[in-house]
Amino acid sequence: MTPVSVAVLVSGGGTNLQALLDALGGGAVARIARVVSSRGDAAALERARRAGVPVEVLTDPADPAELVRAVGDAGLVVLAGYLKRVPPAAVARFRWRVINIHPALLPAFGGDGMYGRRVHEAVLASGAALSGATVHYVDQEYDRGPILAQWPVPVRADDTPDSLAARVLEVEHRLLPAAVLALARLGVPERPVRLSVRGSTFVTGETVAVDLDAAADWRTGGPADG
Ligand code: GRF
Repeated sequence: MTPVSVAVLVSGGGTNLQALLDALGGGAVARIARVVSSRGDAAALERARRAGVPVEVLTDPADPAELVRAVGDAGLVVLAGYLKRVPPAAVARFRWRVINIHPALLPAFGGDGMYGRRVHEAVLASGAALSGATVHYVDQEYDRGPILAQWPVPVRADDTPDSLAARVLEVEHRLLPAAVLALARLGVPERPVRLSVRGSTFVTGETVAVDLDAAADWRTGGPADG
């Protein structure tokens, strides 16, 4: 099997990028072919350079042609802390091949302006007992594409936005690589799939583990045929 070539889009610290770099290892299933940043000072770029992955900094993230060129021939595009909107023409070009990680259980606590600390503040203000991480397909609307995989984490009574963010981030670092590997093993199907978590979806104690089951077609619930 030829490894799926992955482009990772970043804007910030790049801890999710690091989790991908660490998890994909020798790249037998998927390999990170390039890292594309919306800003030149993103710490994520340093992580990519250290790993020997080619980097590209966009001059105009709103320009679909530049983005498409930067992504090149990647079979999968992963938004990992990418804070710019992907232009609709680029979304259309990579239909069902662009995924994003969001630090809450979508469709709640998503949408325009819902990123970073604001997400966790909103979760705490709502009184919800659960938050989590979501990997979803990117379509024309912010945080509204079909959900690929989710993993819940408890919200504790004494949580602050920072403590909740840290707990969710730990799960993100497992869920995103697991989703990328599962999708790559399926050959990045041309229609949305749903990955379900094997066993309990609840974090027990301090142990965080993610084991994703075979994908099912998002619309029919039947097995994906790739
Ligand atoms: C993560 O919480 C991710 O869910 C969100 O932005 C944050 C990025 O963190 N989209 P990092 O740059 O991967 O450290």
